[in-house]
Amino acid sequence: MRKQILQARKKIIDEKSVDLKQPVAFSTKGLAIKFKNGEEVAFPDIQVNAGEKVLLTGDSGSGKSTLFKLILGEEKATRGEIEYFDESGKVVKPDLAEIGYLPQSPVLFPATIAENITMFYDKLEQFVSGAINDVQLASDISKFPDGIETEIDLNKLNVSGGQRQKIVLARSKVHDSKLILIDEGTSAIDQAATMRILKRLVKTDATIVFIAHNFNDEMQKIFDHEICLTR
Ligand SMILES: Nc1ncnc2c1ncn2[C@@H]1O[C@H](COP(=O)(O)OP(=O)(O)OP(=O)(O)O)[C@@H](O)[C@H]1O
Ligand SMILES: [Mg+2]
Repeated sequence: MRKQILQARKKIIDEKSVDLKQPVAFSTKGLAIKFKNGEEVAFPDIQVNAGEKVLLTGDSGSGKSTLFKLILGEEKATRGEIEYFDESGKVVKPDLAEIGYLPQSPVLFPATIAENITMFYDKLEQFVSGAINDVQLASDISKFPDGIETEIDLNKLNVSGGQRQKIVLARSKVHDSKLILIDEGTSAIDQAATMRILKRLVKTDATIVFIAHNFNDEMQKIFDHEICLTR
């Protein structure tokens, strides 16, 4: 398993075109997607600048998760376009793999917690403990006898839903993503911890788009602005 991941990664790195840049900001124009079943979702024109912290809201089914998938290149737009920018606002050809993404149901590997955070990049091990503090995972980990070396058992579910989300969040921290998309990333994490995580996240200079279903005034105030999608 480990060997397979390492080989796959080497292949990706080898094939990576050198002119791909890490995207930091993006904008969309006339963006729409039509699914095979005929359902169409159209988006307002959106601009998210470098370093901004944006709250993305809208009713269930309004297209929030779909927007993330379009930005990540996981879905293809039928109309319109997405432009990506670097720190200085220059249009770049994006290396989409460098976008940090916390999906509604995060994916973990049958490996240790530390490896799930570094994704087997040994060089990133030095950043693991800092990231664990940032995402409020330290007290969870102190309860595991093997600490960050605890093997995640996908069948036995030895880590909770909230802990999974924190692990994936720590993953984007150690990889130093400059653009992080969080899809209700803290839904399984309790409100108080969510606030502590958000407060740390907004202090970083990363651009963050955060989808939330349930948010209060206090949470809303943390963000620079809100984008609300309607059907
Ligand atoms: N692969 C797909 N095939 C067909 N329809 C889809 C597909 N993915 C999304 N949709 C439709 O697109 C619309 C937007 O879905 P999306 O998951 O983006 O909503 P959302 O705003 O994230 O909702 P929620 O708040 O419940 O997570 C929905 O009507 C959904 O049924
Ligand atoms: Mg969604």
